[in-house]
Amino acid sequence: MVAKVIDGKALAKKVRQECSVRVNELAAGGVRPGLAVILVGEDAASKVYVNNKIKACIEVGLHSEVYRFPGDASEAAVIAEIERLNADDTIHGILVQLPLPPQFALRKVLETISRDKDVDGFHLYNVGSLVVGDTVFPPCTPFGVQRILESENISVQGQNVVVVGASNIVGKPMALMLMQKEATVAICHAKTRDLAQFTILADILVVAAGKPNLITAPMVKTGAVVIDVGINRLADGSLVGDVDFHGVKEKASYITSVPGGVGPMTVTMLMWNTVQSAERFLAARPGAALEYAA
Ligand code: GUN
Repeated sequence: MVAKVIDGKALAKKVRQECSVRVNELAAGGVRPGLAVILVGEDAASKVYVNNKIKACIEVGLHSEVYRFPGDASEAAVIAEIERLNADDTIHGILVQLPLPPQFALRKVLETISRDKDVDGFHLYNVGSLVVGDTVFPPCTPFGVQRILESENISVQGQNVVVVGASNIVGKPMALMLMQKEATVAICHAKTRDLAQFTILADILVVAAGKPNLITAPMVKTGAVVIDVGINRLADGSLVGDVDFHGVKEKASYITSVPGGVGPMTVTMLMWNTVQSAERFLAARPGAALEYAA
């Protein structure tokens, strides 16, 4: 069996066009969605991610602002900026790029972001909303994976789904979202003994461990759907995922590539969440219906 390679770039383009349509509708109500990004320090990967987010904002028609702080910035300065942005009606999404330097109390910073503008979905209120299945902002990477599966009409209901990686950003929210859709979910992580005994059972395998070549063909069930969330830069400068793409492609039914798979969808779902936030803002504003009718 040779897998269909899911084109995350093409899907991202389609979803961004859907976002642009909604941006135009919002313009009729006098609202332009705005995203503020806070970047602290000089982490090279974070700079690339932030640039990609700003480029996506321009493509979709969002207003964007970037606040850059030096690596030795104080937590108080960053929190003051977030509080100012919380009160700014032209900003509908606020995102603090992670990781933060070690002097920052991560939870304190994330809990400062207004839960109504928390387009990453990292505020504890939004984490809790995900747990009880009443999601406000789905975290962008698992949201992108969900959209990829939907785009190929791959139902997760009743399927064995194995998530490799238990991070707060990807693995845990992914598992919760899949559970909400009635999948049977197992989460594996760095301490899992004999990873293959779990992965071989997966109808759908989502890998977000950050280890090149962690998943090889013998670990994958024939016909499985394999979603690779990993992004690893090798010594020769090339980008690879966590899955041995060429080997596993011969055994799976669907597979995502790295680059060109989940990555473009992560940024795209950030646009989606920001547009959604602006729509909620407009709907909650007195006189919104009148402006729409005008
Ligand atoms: N760092 C790595 N992934 C992410 C993400 O999805 N959001 C933020 N804010 N930082 C990240």
